[in-house]
Amino acid sequence: MTATVDAPPSQLSPVRFHQVGKAFGSGRKAVVALDGVDLEVGAGEFVCLLGASGCGKTTLLNLVAGLDRPTSGRIELNSSRPAVVFQEAALMPWLTAAGNVELPLRMAGVPKAQRRAKAAELLELVRLAGLGDKRPHELSGGMRQRVALARALASTTDSADAGKPSLLLMDEPFSALDAITRDVLQGELLRIWRATGTAILFVTHDVREAVRLGQRVVLLSSRPGRVVRQWDVEDTPDAVDEINIALRKVISSHAAA
Ligand SMILES: Nc1ncnc2c1ncn2[C@@H]1O[C@H](COP(=O)(O)OP(=O)(O)OP(=O)(O)O)[C@@H](O)[C@H]1O
Ligand SMILES: [Mg+2]
Repeated sequence: MTATVDAPPSQLSPVRFHQVGKAFGSGRKAVVALDGVDLEVGAGEFVCLLGASGCGKTTLLNLVAGLDRPTSGRIELNSSRPAVVFQEAALMPWLTAAGNVELPLRMAGVPKAQRRAKAAELLELVRLAGLGDKRPHELSGGMRQRVALARALASTTDSADAGKPSLLLMDEPFSALDAITRDVLQGELLRIWRATGTAILFVTHDVREAVRLGQRVVLLSSRPGRVVRQWDVEDTPDAVDEINIALRKVISSHAAA
């Protein structure tokens, strides 16, 4: 008899898609957003998901986040509860920055002193130390995204899931920001990713952003979205050019359909 050695939970892939499909509605009016998607994000890995508008990127993130269910296939989740950062920060306007970061901890039943300390630590990590008592309307767009990031990190550090790899889902989080702020926040996100070791699945339609941030770039076809190609960024010398050509092909094949 052979003994199987299971990988420790911290080394399991936080998420794995097996032939995942998602259709909205049914019958002739059904919109097939995703079809036969196979995708894996490794523990601590930074994966960027790229594709034309409407190809199903947000749908895919929503499935991982548990906000929606696949209509076919299976999603294997091996992480603490995934946290999402959206294009707009979606902060609670009546709460301070610190209050927003504390919210997921409060919902998880973390005692007050402990969540205060955690929120302060996370606000420092996103370089907002000293601004914890500001309300969202008093902050710039970039600062609000920093708060949203800190809040997402707070919700991935749920003690009930200790030991499991964490997973952060980001849906075009910087696309509403000006170019300089976006550049700064991309650098900050890389620093935070290295510091925390969390896996990140990051949606963008900006090839440069995908190549700067991701270790791996995954290209989805136009609707229905399926994985067309993947690149290991380190092993691809002209990644930006190469991926741009592939993305343009995907978009033009859709326009011609
Ligand atoms: N709740 C829904 N009900 C019906 N159709 C939906 C729903 N959500 C998404 N869709 C459809 O599924 C397809 C994929 O949408 P999705 O938002 O995932 O695209 P996307 O790749 O995120 O696009 P973008 O880059 O513009 O954000 C679209 O055709 C969209 O109209
Ligand atoms: Mg989207």
